[in-house]
Amino acid sequence: MSFAQVVVFLVAVLTLGYIRLRRGISYSGGVPRVGKPGVWGYIQTAIKYTLDAENLIIEGRTQFDNKPFVLPTLSGPIFILGPEYLERVRSGPDSVFSEIIAVNEDLQLPYTMDANQLDNPVQAHVMRTDVNRAIPAMIPEIFEESVLAMDETFKIPNGQDSISIPIFDTMTHLIARISNRVIFGEEMCRDEGFLHAIVRFAETTPMMAPFIQWSPVVLRPIVYFVLSSLFGGKKGALKYAIPHLERYMKKRQSMTEKPKLVSEFMIQGVPQHEKVQEIAVRLLNLNFGSIHTSSIFITQTLFELVLLPPSDIESMRQEIGEALECEGGWTKEALDKLNKVDSALREIGRYYGLMHFALPRCAVVGYDLGNGTHIPPGYRVAIDMKRIHFNPDTYPDPNRCDIFRFSKLRSEESSGAKYAFATVDSNYLPFGAGRHACAGRQFASMELKIMLAHILLKYDVSLPPGITERPKNVIFNGAIVPDTKANLIFKPRSGHGGKVG
Ligand code: HEM
Repeated sequence: MSFAQVVVFLVAVLTLGYIRLRRGISYSGGVPRVGKPGVWGYIQTAIKYTLDAENLIIEGRTQFDNKPFVLPTLSGPIFILGPEYLERVRSGPDSVFSEIIAVNEDLQLPYTMDANQLDNPVQAHVMRTDVNRAIPAMIPEIFEESVLAMDETFKIPNGQDSISIPIFDTMTHLIARISNRVIFGEEMCRDEGFLHAIVRFAETTPMMAPFIQWSPVVLRPIVYFVLSSLFGGKKGALKYAIPHLERYMKKRQSMTEKPKLVSEFMIQGVPQHEKVQEIAVRLLNLNFGSIHTSSIFITQTLFELVLLPPSDIESMRQEIGEALECEGGWTKEALDKLNKVDSALREIGRYYGLMHFALPRCAVVGYDLGNGTHIPPGYRVAIDMKRIHFNPDTYPDPNRCDIFRFSKLRSEESSGAKYAFATVDSNYLPFGAGRHACAGRQFASMELKIMLAHILLKYDVSLPPGITERPKNVIFNGAIVPDTKANLIFKPRSGHGGKVG
């Protein structure tokens, strides 16, 4: 396809998108909309949302006195609801507020992955059951891979004592490698071709989805085909995943004891009729859910850690050293004792998170909001997460990113897991809430704590010379992404590493 044909094709899709959007705008719920009136006003405001969601949401809250309001986006309007609606959305059944329909609108699953992800999302169940139970057994491998991958990645050039690293891309690559050590296994996690393909799949899938959504149903497979040929989609990653799984399926027939790999649990968990390709797509989906979420969190955490005084870093190192000493190495029990690292991650979730709102759901039936207003069926709702995370009654001094906020609370209240990173409650929503709360949060917590603790023990990390401020976040389409161009300096500390427990 020539460049001109691609442009004509994309213009046609955008025109069709405009027609669909016009229909979407003419709702009649009586809920006010932030921004300019009319169709063009909607489009202008939706563009503002794409580039500056934060200020548009603040404008909506202020203009409508914290009452529900409609936020225009290029994928359709979203009804933004305050904390007083959290319980109703959280506990609403899928027949009232559907998570999967909302996810499908964002990702266009039947095209970008396959229809199984929509009809029977068994991968979430496998994560919540078998994988969660196997996490303690996965710790030594995740630790070993972290050490190997970081030794390679942070290799100091000859004649220097430190290395400058483009941190977001590096962390994304490291997360892909380290996670896949226990998803597909050792061989695949070190295959650079696969890692490149899986990161590209994770990056391009949400970008292609709006174009697919804007097209008429009959054209959607073609739109996906064209876009994925240009930008990359599941095909590149499946080229590695399918032959690997085929080989593994043959080998496993003669295995007396099956390895504790996510792929093994998936093979056991899917309906019997599913073929290798379908299992592979489910594993791709998990990679999609894990790669950028985790790399955003670890990058944001490092950006905060480099601002801390050396004494705070030392106190974190001391806590890690004591936990490893006491538990005899990298075990689940040792990770449970890393309160400061855990607190840093939880505070990153409170202060930044991934999005400005939580619990995106599709209203399947009309929903009465009171005062004569309602959400019509088929429309999107979400909870204004920042209002919850910045409530001074819950979080004193909420505008300060206080890395030790939760470890202080844990030691004051002896509260066990109440303030742990992976604990979801009605004041803490970066992992969502309710029956669809992140199925991989225990996995993410285990992996991120190992990676951060190892970095803290092994390296001195700092901002590049001359830079004194934290790199600024990029806000795009409601997402909060750390500066993808920023570098950090890694300098090995002598004599530190840690042993596998
Ligand atoms: C810091 C890292 C992560 C963050 C912040 C995060 C965040 C989220 C959020 C916000 C949701 C939607 C919840 C809702 O709407 O109520 C979600 C769902 C999900 N996440 Fe994560 N996630 C992370 C890591 C992971 C990892 C590592 C995996 C798997 C290896 C994973 C697998 C899933 C799955 C399968 C779901 C769908 C659950 C369902 O629909 O029932 N996530 N995650």
